[in-house]
Amino acid sequence: MVNKICCIGAGYVGGPTMAVIAQKCPDIKVTVVDINEQRIAAWNDEDVTKIPVYEPGLDAVVAEARGRNLFFSTEVDKAIDEADMIFISVNTPTKTYGVGKGMAADLKYIELCARQIARVATSDKIVVEKSTLPVRTASALKDILDNTGNGVKFDILSNPEFLAEGTAVEDLHSPDRVLIGGDESTEEGAAALKALVDVYAHWVPRECILTTNVWSSELSKLTANAVLAQRVSSINSLSELCEVTEADVNEVARAIGMDSRIGSKFLKASVGFGGSCFQKDILNLVYIAKSYGLNEVADYWEQVIIMNDHQKGRFARNIISTLYNTVSGKKIAFLGWAFKKDTNDTRESAAIYVADILLSEQAKVSVYDPKVEEYQVYSDVDYLGTRSSEENTENLTVFNDPYEACKGAHAIAVLTEWDEFKSYDWQKIYDGMLKPAFVFDGRRLLDEKQLKSIGFQYQTIGR
Ligand code: NAD
Ligand code: UGA
Repeated sequence: MVNKICCIGAGYVGGPTMAVIAQKCPDIKVTVVDINEQRIAAWNDEDVTKIPVYEPGLDAVVAEARGRNLFFSTEVDKAIDEADMIFISVNTPTKTYGVGKGMAADLKYIELCARQIARVATSDKIVVEKSTLPVRTASALKDILDNTGNGVKFDILSNPEFLAEGTAVEDLHSPDRVLIGGDESTEEGAAALKALVDVYAHWVPRECILTTNVWSSELSKLTANAVLAQRVSSINSLSELCEVTEADVNEVARAIGMDSRIGSKFLKASVGFGGSCFQKDILNLVYIAKSYGLNEVADYWEQVIIMNDHQKGRFARNIISTLYNTVSGKKIAFLGWAFKKDTNDTRESAAIYVADILLSEQAKVSVYDPKVEEYQVYSDVDYLGTRSSEENTENLTVFNDPYEACKGAHAIAVLTEWDEFKSYDWQKIYDGMLKPAFVFDGRRLLDEKQLKSIGFQYQTIGR
């Protein structure tokens, strides 16, 4: 039986996942550790609305469990040593150097965790891969743990996370399934699997807890993200065809989605998918396929990314061509910077790439997002390295008020589907803009009829 859990990595996955485990398992002490002191301090902030991850309902979960059986700490060694079960939930970004640059997952943080666990552990541990990892990573982890440890026994499980940001708490409370990969062929392996199943069984129906071998579990996570992203790229590819044929992509999506074999989810055309994982995980899948010489498999999945890049680019190019082929010196207001609504996460957000193209055309981009902080917007654009940070600061402005962001603009671009955008006073926004006043709705969010009746020139995706 598991009494103490440690989770290494207090990010978008480690934080919410462990908060829910602690909430649902009051008998288990859960300690989430991170080397980022600022992040841990924010998780411990007395004002629970200041926790570093914005997710609807998460503050209440943290408030319920924190200090009872949920702890956030920078004392990594201590938490590792105390725990029976250790989740590794650190970041696994795309490599930015060396072999596999731009494609492979960078496993340096994972390896560091494994070496730290091996160094510190003085009793047997179950080590759980929570991060998304290339298939067969568990064998590398096992090598490190078994060969550098203090002679203690390690069982490795794969337990990928399927939560989506913006709905993390809901997804964790009632997951479609929990996937646990382990080695049932040995007694210890089976016991480790059972120990983790028992943790989830505190609140997840047993039939929703799926157990497989480790490799299927690791590969299922990459596959799930690849297939979800593929659906978005599929519908986005057709959005372009709709625009030239008078078909409407929402009608097409509805018509095909009612076929129970297809299903209606993940068929919403957009300015392109973002988020920290879809692109990273598909690139990783492509890299793995290539490394086994499976070039057709690699090419097949790479198209999902190529289509997504095209979708982001054509949205930006359409703004430029519609604004009479020049946006130089023109104010263009962005509503939304996060990669989707109900999150403050901006990683790989389409907004960043659209802004970059417009800034290269010398546009003045103004940004309003209800949850994203100013420094984040600048750091996202600076990270691309297209131009100097000074130039970015000069041409990009972040506003706390949407009406101010839109005042004096030639055009508005909707990049995130925040609900509040729908209920703005659009007449007031129109009155403050230069004419003709354009709206480019990258999320098919706004009421076209209403906007047109006010006088806006309105364009959207897939119609
Ligand atoms: P994140 O960057 O928000 O958090 C990772 C944290 O790990 C950071 O705070 C970092 O400081 C910490 N860390 C790194 N190395 C460490 C070390 N050696 N010791 C202690 N702390 C360390 O990342 P995330 O979004 O939480 O993603 C984590 C993993 O989960 C990734 O593999 C990702 O692919 C996967 N995943 C993410 C999501 C999501 O919605 N974000 C969903 C499912 C799976
Ligand atoms: C995604 C998966 O949905 C999760 O199951 C997975 O755990 C997670 O990745 C991960 O591994 O990180 P997330 O990226 O948080 O979750 O959010 P999604 O809801 O999947 O949206 C991803 C992107 O696709 C967003 O930019 C969203 O706007 C876009 N999208 C989604 C569309 O454009 N159309 C759709 O129909 C659905």
